[in-house]
Amino acid sequence: MCGIVGYTGKNEALPVVTGGLFALEYRGYDSSGVAVLCGGKTEIVKKTGKLENLMAALEKAQLKGTCGIGHTRWATHGEVTETNAHPHTVGKTVLVHNGIIENYVSVGKMTNTDFKSTTDTERACALFNELYERCGDGLQTITSACREFVGSYAFLVMFKDEPDIFYAVRNGCPLVVGTADGGFAACSDVAACDFGEYYKLSDGDVAKVTKDGISFFDKDGAPISKEALTPKKSFSAPDKCGFPHYMLKEMEEIPTVLKNTLEAHIKDGLPYFEGVEDEIFKNMNRLRIVGCGTAYHAGLVCEHISRRLTGIEGDIYIASEYRYSGHKLNKDDAVIFITQSGETADTLACIRMCRAQGAYTLGVVNVPTSTAVEECDGVILTHAGSEIAVASTKAYVTQLAALYLIVLKMSLVKGTLTEDEVRGLCGELLNGVCAESRLSDTDKITINRIAEKYSECRDMFYIGRGLDSVLCSEASLKLKEISYVHSEAYPSGELKHGTISLITEGVGVFAILTDERLYLKSIGNIEEAAARGGSVIALCKEGFCKDKNYDLIPCRISNDLFAPFAVAPRFQYFAYCMTIIKNLDPDKPRNLAKSVTVE
Ligand code: F6R
Repeated sequence: MCGIVGYTGKNEALPVVTGGLFALEYRGYDSSGVAVLCGGKTEIVKKTGKLENLMAALEKAQLKGTCGIGHTRWATHGEVTETNAHPHTVGKTVLVHNGIIENYVSVGKMTNTDFKSTTDTERACALFNELYERCGDGLQTITSACREFVGSYAFLVMFKDEPDIFYAVRNGCPLVVGTADGGFAACSDVAACDFGEYYKLSDGDVAKVTKDGISFFDKDGAPISKEALTPKKSFSAPDKCGFPHYMLKEMEEIPTVLKNTLEAHIKDGLPYFEGVEDEIFKNMNRLRIVGCGTAYHAGLVCEHISRRLTGIEGDIYIASEYRYSGHKLNKDDAVIFITQSGETADTLACIRMCRAQGAYTLGVVNVPTSTAVEECDGVILTHAGSEIAVASTKAYVTQLAALYLIVLKMSLVKGTLTEDEVRGLCGELLNGVCAESRLSDTDKITINRIAEKYSECRDMFYIGRGLDSVLCSEASLKLKEISYVHSEAYPSGELKHGTISLITEGVGVFAILTDERLYLKSIGNIEEAAARGGSVIALCKEGFCKDKNYDLIPCRISNDLFAPFAVAPRFQYFAYCMTIIKNLDPDKPRNLAKSVTVE
């Protein structure tokens, strides 16, 4: 989503700021802009569309100055226009903003400003400016203005008559400051700047960043000290490594990152989670899992597996619903939060809500430096490495790996499986499953051929039973989010309760069949769809559907329990092929952002 970068120091600000914006680009944006402060004046350049458009404009504008801020915007309030793009300026104030100021209408009314844009940000900027005009002090302005805001924000603010200085303040949106490039930088993601050491702002913290150093203050303006951190270099810098798209590269990495995740959490042949007591799993009498999108879908798989192996049922919640659901928890409860980025606003809000009620919060998180890692009581890291493509592929598979190990741990501590059984399943995961997740050249050719055949298809229904039915939800999301083909996921048996009325000639039916026990039932449902004109693709266990006239994507599955690890890479690759055939960019689908930092 929106990204912000600031710099002040002895070097030109623009290369650092635009470099940071490029590093944040993968998160998704629709316009961008920069402002440089020099000699009591600020120059602002903004453009809609790709950063290349901004760079072309900057070449002409030749902005010079050693203090500057920049932004990539993902529109919330107001359409995608240059006027609505950031930075915004009112009077002596220039700023960039991530988040949403919910009370922006009343904030705007507190000032006497003729607004040019329709954004909440310009209203906030006007309030900063009004207060600055009154007191003439940057720090006091920041703390007073923030008292008025309702909502989430990370701001970088410059005042035209405070040379070489910018202020950073946050509430609910990530923001770090630190040493970088012969000066000091601020950024919404630590990985986007080449920090020496850095400091994480907490809600309410204000950083005054000058060309000589950084000072920190609390929400009332009293000085505070912060702990210096060293960036973890384990997260590789974005690099396609010769692949045409990040998504393809990330799918190729699945067998490796799956192995990395399993090896990190299997010790002496059994599931092991550093820092998480066995008691937590022993006390779980109900599985509670919270996440959004793909992470939520990983939770659905976990619930299914848990029912099968431990007999424990679960409640899997979409974070944006859970946070307002009024669920009551107590100190004996534990809740699992799945999040790749660790910065998803709704998921973070749920973590805080559960902690406030005294429940134990267990994060299954990919980004080790994220807010979720910081805020959860216990953390199980997935080791997918940085995922740049908007559509989650390898991160989803590693989430599944971590969740399977959680269920195996529960089975062990609750005694629903013996130690030998758990050891055997851990061994299968490590040795068999990683191999089954790898696509051969033949697999790729088959899937691509089928995608070509279905490339004109406008509707695709994903159907399956049991575990396959929950995989359908993720398969359907993958297809629609990057290829823009309308798709829906249904349990196979549910079609005839309404949705089958939509199955006509040319409608795609993508069936997932991996469960021996449900095979004949599934075939019956597929035939019902085929009889009404549906064209059937079957992603199935090797040997299934051989006598059928379906387009087959067979995969080797040695144990039905672990089918998701073989199935997911194949439906992800199908979505990728459909997207490429349509000449669309799978890495940056329209309207989407990688890290959803607003609710
Ligand atoms: C879809 C996708 C999203 C994310 C969701 C949660 O491919 O990636 O649905 O899964 O936005 O993001 P995280 O896991 O970062 O909390």
